[in-house]
Amino acid sequence: MPAAVRTAVFPVAGRGTRFLPATKAVPKEMLPIVDRPLIQYAVDEAIEAGATRLVFITHSSKRAIEDHFDQDADLEHALKASGKQAQLEALRDIIPASVSCVFIRQGEPLGLGHAVLCARPAVGDEPFMVHLPDDLIRAEPGCLRQMVNAYDEHGESVIAVEDVPREKTSSYGIVAVDDAQRLRAIVEKPSPESAPSTLAVVGRYVLTGTIFDKLETTGRGAGGEIQLTDAIADLLEEQGVHAYRFDGTRYDCGNKVGYVQAQIDYALADPAIAGGLQLK
Ligand code: G1P
Repeated sequence: MPAAVRTAVFPVAGRGTRFLPATKAVPKEMLPIVDRPLIQYAVDEAIEAGATRLVFITHSSKRAIEDHFDQDADLEHALKASGKQAQLEALRDIIPASVSCVFIRQGEPLGLGHAVLCARPAVGDEPFMVHLPDDLIRAEPGCLRQMVNAYDEHGESVIAVEDVPREKTSSYGIVAVDDAQRLRAIVEKPSPESAPSTLAVVGRYVLTGTIFDKLETTGRGAGGEIQLTDAIADLLEEQGVHAYRFDGTRYDCGNKVGYVQAQIDYALADPAIAGGLQLK
């Protein structure tokens, strides 16, 4: 059995300019789908997959995320005093006592690879998960749980992939795989003409600690940023990496259409809400 995956990393330093003005004072990860912020879905998925340590790579403009996962004793007292038991439970369910949170600042927006590298002091050399909260995945069991199972089976890094229309390849990392779904190549945001396939990386990764050594030496890539994709390409020369076609539905909550679609689907899946909706 390979080393246990106990840590999840959430790169949340980026500004959500596509959702301005909503995200001027509120982090995009705090936008709710029904009654829970996107970051809560991310954390729940990681905990379901076995994470006991959560590492948030954050920014001074994103303090609300830290507040969300902090205990609020005043609010708890007030809810208790007024007999609001259900709300009190909802507050206490945000994070189990056995799970710890670490917040690390990414002072400069140098890219996803740089954000992951910022987590190194908190992760050490262990395998770890990376979760990009913009990609909301509705799945049972959760996508990360499925991927940790695949990691346990192979003992090698696993990245989530999904087929996308060819005209969309320039929005994603794109992989080429062999018959056993092991990566042969990975390239960040290729044009439709140069993309090696239409199999896109979505925001879930289970990576061995060796990725940090690769990130240390990865130069700036697409968009002038330090790309996780480029470090994975370097990792490939040393270790196997598996493409994992998850079972579930992905919503790209980094854009308005995906976000609203998620809102609708999650609301319709909740009988307490669906019954009261009037769709015209
Ligand atoms: C990042 C990754 C990209 C991946 C995508 C998934 O890009 O760099 O490889 O396909 O997430 O959402 P971003 O969306 O941050 O530009």
